[in-house]
Amino acid sequence: MENRVNIYTDRVRFPVAEDLYGLFFEDINRAGDGGIYPEMIRNRSFEDSLIPGGCTTDPDQMVYINRGGWPGCFNHGEGMDEWAAKVPYTPVPGWYSENASMTVDTDETLNSKREASLLVNFTEGGRIFNIGYAGMNVEDGASYDLVMFLKTKKDLRLTITLESPAGEVFAEGTVQTGDSGEWSRADLRLTSKGTCRNAWMAITSPSAAEICFGYTSLLPEDTYKGHGLRKDIVEALMATHPKFLRYPGGCIVEGMSIETAMRFSNTIGDPWERPSHNLMWHYRTTNGFGYHEFLQLCEDTGMAPLYVCNVGMSCQARVSELFDEETVDEFLEEALGALEYALGPADSKYGAMRAAAGHPEPFSMKYFEIGNENHGPEYNERYEKFYKALKAKYPDVIYISNTHTEDAGLPTEMADEHYYNAPEFFMENDNRFDSYDRSGPDIFLGEYAVNGGNTIASMECALAESVFLAGVERNQDIVKLTAYAPLLQNSDYTAWRPNLVVFNNHEVYGIPSYHAISLMAANRGKEVIETEVTSPRVPPVYFGVPGIMSAGPGVQFRNARVNGKPVAVSQMVYGGCEEKDGTFTLVSADNPHPMTGKNPVWNETFEKFMKSGFFPGMTAGEDNCWAVFEGEDLEEYTFEIEFCCRPEDQVTLSIWNYHPDTDAGCNEPKDVRWNLRSVRNQIWRIESGKGTLQAPSYMQRGEIPAVELDIDYSGFNTYRIEARHDGYDCFLNGKLVQSKRHTLHDTLYTVATQDEEKVILKLIKVGETADVRITLDCEVEPDYKVQTLSAPLDAVNSFENMENVSVRTRECSGASSDFVFRAEENSVNVLTFKKK
Ligand code: AHR
Repeated sequence: MENRVNIYTDRVRFPVAEDLYGLFFEDINRAGDGGIYPEMIRNRSFEDSLIPGGCTTDPDQMVYINRGGWPGCFNHGEGMDEWAAKVPYTPVPGWYSENASMTVDTDETLNSKREASLLVNFTEGGRIFNIGYAGMNVEDGASYDLVMFLKTKKDLRLTITLESPAGEVFAEGTVQTGDSGEWSRADLRLTSKGTCRNAWMAITSPSAAEICFGYTSLLPEDTYKGHGLRKDIVEALMATHPKFLRYPGGCIVEGMSIETAMRFSNTIGDPWERPSHNLMWHYRTTNGFGYHEFLQLCEDTGMAPLYVCNVGMSCQARVSELFDEETVDEFLEEALGALEYALGPADSKYGAMRAAAGHPEPFSMKYFEIGNENHGPEYNERYEKFYKALKAKYPDVIYISNTHTEDAGLPTEMADEHYYNAPEFFMENDNRFDSYDRSGPDIFLGEYAVNGGNTIASMECALAESVFLAGVERNQDIVKLTAYAPLLQNSDYTAWRPNLVVFNNHEVYGIPSYHAISLMAANRGKEVIETEVTSPRVPPVYFGVPGIMSAGPGVQFRNARVNGKPVAVSQMVYGGCEEKDGTFTLVSADNPHPMTGKNPVWNETFEKFMKSGFFPGMTAGEDNCWAVFEGEDLEEYTFEIEFCCRPEDQVTLSIWNYHPDTDAGCNEPKDVRWNLRSVRNQIWRIESGKGTLQAPSYMQRGEIPAVELDIDYSGFNTYRIEARHDGYDCFLNGKLVQSKRHTLHDTLYTVATQDEEKVILKLIKVGETADVRITLDCEVEPDYKVQTLSAPLDAVNSFENMENVSVRTRECSGASSDFVFRAEENSVNVLTFKKK
């Protein structure tokens, strides 16, 4: 079949959505303090070792566990195991001492918002030092501002140095302590006489003394527009042409307990007055990049602010705490307060705080999201309360529901959808929004990323996302906003992969998706016009082995065969399996999962959590059984099995069970074997005499279609799945009963826009290089511009090769109303034609 694109400039579909491409900032991977907020001192508030609010820890304080049983890495406050392993143990994360002793003091704190201070007993010449976020970056000639609160009864001149681990001093200054015994503030500007990427800051006392430090901050003087944020990071973000900024999360909005749920009021005012709290991404933040900084950044860059508030419940993916009515009301007040801070007059309560922070005029607030990834009746009820109250007071703001609340009959202006999935999902869903009800709410694609498959942060991911985004652009009459997630990754503190922008303490680069998004967002046009596309279509390729799962013990099976040949169980993922005379019975068993990279307490807690049956669509309970059969990973095969169960048993046959070895998503424990979250497969679920071919997910809308099955529950029935490239057929006792057809992928995807002078064609070529015939219904100049992102599918960017996958621009000639363009294999292209 010919690769062909017909462009019709006279068939205008709709104007482009002005804010389509934006950013989603969440403090994950230490993206806030030590990231976009360039604090150089790690644990500036000395609170990192405090147990996260609402959680308990094991006796060794390696793991915290929330009230619902969700575990997270703690390591005495160092965070993830990998982070802790890189530094020597210290009871005060980030801080070390020589000839001095350090104690975290929770009684004598700087103010009522601080929960700890650092009590130091220096001997003569003793010192304490902070190693920053994997070292501090000090640059030749650059200045750094120290703000320190301390109290002591001995008047001393402390020496402050920025120095290399080998002791080379790059900057030095002194502060006088005073002897009042009361808290006092010391300020010092340090200017470096050299460059060092792994410097420390040391505080040295000339004589023996007891000093209590309440808060200690070191920030570069040179920041983005002088408003306190790290320049190179903000500039990298701006190169993606973002039109809005979603903030502050993400799951951190919800928190893992009531105590750790986000409150905007904790993120405003002087930094030393902002309470800190643990994020569920395994570290504590002092909220340096707070609400005011968010609004200021939006103002400085022209991005529309999109704030997300907590709706009165903690994270449902981590066993939610539903806050009582009074607390829900408190969170509603927080939401109203946030709006007042942004929009209220300077004489209102929060407007006055904004003015005190240097911004008497209101900021703007275009979008406001009510909750993050919440769902169910508990959410709906809270959403309705928030929506009504917020809309009544601030009617001009566009409110976003974090799910499809219109399905529950609630007023919904815009609904947020999140997609993290394998490349195939994004390819199959390029037309996802074609069928959305145009009388329904607008859509916000609030979080998306290819985070599963054989590669990670690669060209393959960027390609699949671009296909999806082209589909979004063809539907931008309804999809109004999109944001890749997560945004930032401090490479020394990775808790999630992939992330759009990676940085260390002095460098920044974008992954291939960053370059694809920048390319798409830079070339927008004014209105979407119609294109017709033809290209060869190909099926997705799935591979893997078959399996059988039951929600409880007692199911019996026999004669498992692949392509007619008997196959044995290769592993029991959950439960056990007892054999007698060729018949196997699934039984409960205490088969612990050896998790990798984490400690035994975490592993045990997580294993329990995994089997709690909590995850929607995953009905694994304590008694869950899951057998996987031996064999090679096959693409096309027949799997046959006889099993006997009761109507109330839930039995799931699966094909293409596959365990990707990419380390994507949260760095929660990785199971060296398989678990329900990490294995990808396709299923046939049999329960109560019915079969379904899809597992429900929380984003599922409407009913999952089920088919009545004629099962003889008195004995064994034979089930067969014929897996082919184009889908799979399910047979019961030799009779075809259910089928699923895969969506075939196009190999060419396009969207076209235009303005008065230009026609812009976005053309994504999947698979091999091909000649594409392009026709236009108007005359264009022969010279045209081509911008291309193309690389081997597994190509990635890195600190060593930051632009390995990046856009190339060519000036080409030969365009006409009918011409041939050679599209490189696996490429994202933008062709810009000048109208004659
Ligand atoms: O982007 C990372 C996380 O993914 C977000 O916090 C959450 O909203 C989603 O589950």
